[in-house]
Amino acid sequence: MSGLTGFDDIVRQGEPLAPYTWFKIGGPAAYFAEPRTIDELGALVRRCREEELSVWLIGGGSNLLVRDEGVPGVVIRLAAEAFSEVKVDGETITSGGGSKLGHLISIAVREGLAGLESLVGIPGTIGGALHGNSGGRGGDIGQWASQATVMTRDGEIHVRQRDDLVFSYRDSSLDELVILDAQFQLEPTDSVELTKRMQKQWILKKASQPLGHESAGCIFKNPRGMSAGMLIDQAGLKGTTIGGATVSERHANFILTAPGASSQDVLKLIDLIKGRISDRLGVELETEIEVW
Ligand code: EPU
Repeated sequence: MSGLTGFDDIVRQGEPLAPYTWFKIGGPAAYFAEPRTIDELGALVRRCREEELSVWLIGGGSNLLVRDEGVPGVVIRLAAEAFSEVKVDGETITSGGGSKLGHLISIAVREGLAGLESLVGIPGTIGGALHGNSGGRGGDIGQWASQATVMTRDGEIHVRQRDDLVFSYRDSSLDELVILDAQFQLEPTDSVELTKRMQKQWILKKASQPLGHESAGCIFKNPRGMSAGMLIDQAGLKGTTIGGATVSERHANFILTAPGASSQDVLKLIDLIKGRISDRLGVELETEIEVW
């Protein structure tokens, strides 16, 4: 395994990435690594740097479209337990970056700690959610983050305090290679009341979004003061299909993929939507999903 000799236990070559994404499409990674410890992750990242191999960090794969050609470098996934521990200490929860957001929300609600419950239904990992400041009308994850530990592309570990963290609409200053863990400062509330709040959010989301289908959440960011979904709907694009990719009938800012769909189908459909909204409404839509 040229360049990655010594990492044979944790690296596979030509691993298909489709199963690791919510779209369930896309090509393979030249190298795919699942380190078991932080030290092993650091050693791997430093080796990639020495060997000039490009590195990508895959989270839950829920906001991601992998091109059909795949990824010509090393894709790292934090699947090991070492990256997904969750600890509660009073009003503070510390979570590994590889932990699922849904898991963290259920622990917070059970412990009677309010803040994250409006994020129910958002898939993905804590690292991915913080990197892209996941959220919705009820708020976003960044507003609750009090600290984060990151690993740079040189394999160095740094702790970022609240004052160093900047969060904006679907964006954050956390753009180092890896978010190892994060702390959330939450508000004590009755857990029965919190459970009700969470259930209400879940019902609202279920009714308006095609959850549980092969999709990557909202495709486009909302232009300032507008809803991309509403614009796409008003342009009459619901149900528009290219190959195996279709604009959802339930929420027009979602694209659903059918078995046999290619990433090219999705990219063509994205271009069609952007072109139509630009021509008809003069609004330039910007994608929210990452394309590798
Ligand atoms: N609408 C339509 N047609 C559609 C979709 C929406 O007319 O096909 C209308 C709705 O009726 C509503 C308005 O557009 O009046 C806004 O819709 P919605 O409440 O669904 O919110 P959104 O702006 O489309 C945002 C986030 C979602 C988040 C929801 C709920 C973005 C791009 N989207 O959607 O986030 O779940 O609010 O909090 O910011 C995501 O980022 O992946 C995502 C799904």
